[in-house]
Amino acid sequence: MPDESTNEPSSPHIILVGLPGSGKSTVGRRVARRLGRPFVDFDSEIERRAGKSIAQIFSESGEPGFRALELELTRELAQTSGMVLAPGGGWTTIPGATALLRPPARMIYLRVKAEVAIGRILRGRRIRPLLQTADPLDTLRKLLAEREAGYLQADHVVDVEVVKSQQLIATIARLALS
Ligand code: S3P
Repeated sequence: MPDESTNEPSSPHIILVGLPGSGKSTVGRRVARRLGRPFVDFDSEIERRAGKSIAQIFSESGEPGFRALELELTRELAQTSGMVLAPGGGWTTIPGATALLRPPARMIYLRVKAEVAIGRILRGRRIRPLLQTADPLDTLRKLLAEREAGYLQADHVVDVEVVKSQQLIATIARLALS
């Protein structure tokens, strides 16, 4: 996790939520750079701390074990401010997690269609244990149906397919500060 002394204590965290494949990590890193804020990618931070991949954590401790690590990281981040945060796609389903950070954190939903997200996921190399199924698109559609109400609790919704990447970063940076 970035050094806490580098953050701006007065500004709230900016949290990007959305399905796997919505671009939270890529967009988050770029928004953070643009705003001069530290960036925390939850999956990378959890892997670094555990010394294991997300896939290994799921296979050894199951989804509940992984969610417990996400909640633990969220508790720590609640003691800090001024960062751009990219939790995994299931983070909003953890009871009490969002309430640890907001208010005052600003939450932005990167909305993407399951059909588009699955293409990005399959082109990438990261393993999503929950999508290791016979029909990953169908699984992702079901996850979206279960999660969308939680994602829509965000302060802002950005349709990531509609805007070009440069514009997307600028839009999110502006919304985050509004
Ligand atoms: C998950 C999404 C993943 C990762 C884990 C579980 C989910 O993160 O946290 O595989 O429940 O949707 P991304 O959304 O960054 O892929």
